[in-house]
Amino acid sequence: MEALETIMTRRSVRDFRSDPVSEADLQTLLKAGMQAPSAKNERPWHFIVIDDPDVLHKIPDFHRNAQMLKYAPMAILVCSDRKLESKRATWIQDCSAATENILLAAMDGVGGVWLGVFPDAVRVKGLQELLIMPADIRPVSLIAVGHPALTPEPTNRFDPTRIHKNRW
Ligand SMILES: Cc1cc2nc3c(=O)[nH]c(=O)nc-3n(C[C@H](O)[C@H](O)[C@H](O)COP(=O)(O)O)c2cc1C
Repeated sequence: MEALETIMTRRSVRDFRSDPVSEADLQTLLKAGMQAPSAKNERPWHFIVIDDPDVLHKIPDFHRNAQMLKYAPMAILVCSDRKLESKRATWIQDCSAATENILLAAMDGVGGVWLGVFPDAVRVKGLQELLIMPADIRPVSLIAVGHPALTPEPTNRFDPTRIHKNRW
């Protein structure tokens, strides 16, 4: 799929088939995430792949907008490592870029939805405890991944009133 077509047709997938994501597809998603731009090329990210149903099913207990994890075969948690972060708070942007790269790569055969984690303290703590994460690692965003059972139609969001030229 061409890059622009991928961007323009991407939608969040929240209804998944139960069949697993192949190891090849998972590797493609992780490579896409790590290919993202980051400030000073610091790449402060780590990725936790969650495919144990017992773990996935516990997440909606503290993340009420993540109910689809009761049915999704997999999720990827994008985290930032404090030891790799610069003094400036660019880690959120770095991890967000990685998250979007994964979502776009998922258009090639699977589907996914971005589930916000940081800065919601309950979600951050819930994931840190559930996934036994070291204190230096902060969860930023979670991506539910799987083969779509239902994909929303592409939608046009172009809004010329949001464009400003040379000044506000
Ligand atoms: C920072 C962020 C947090 C989000 N959190 C959630 C979430 O917790 N649950 C969910 O179902 N969708 C979540 N979404 C997905 C948005 O609802 C979705 O992207 C938006 O409605 C636009 O729809 P589309 O992705 O199909 O184009 C999140 C998206 C972003 C960027």
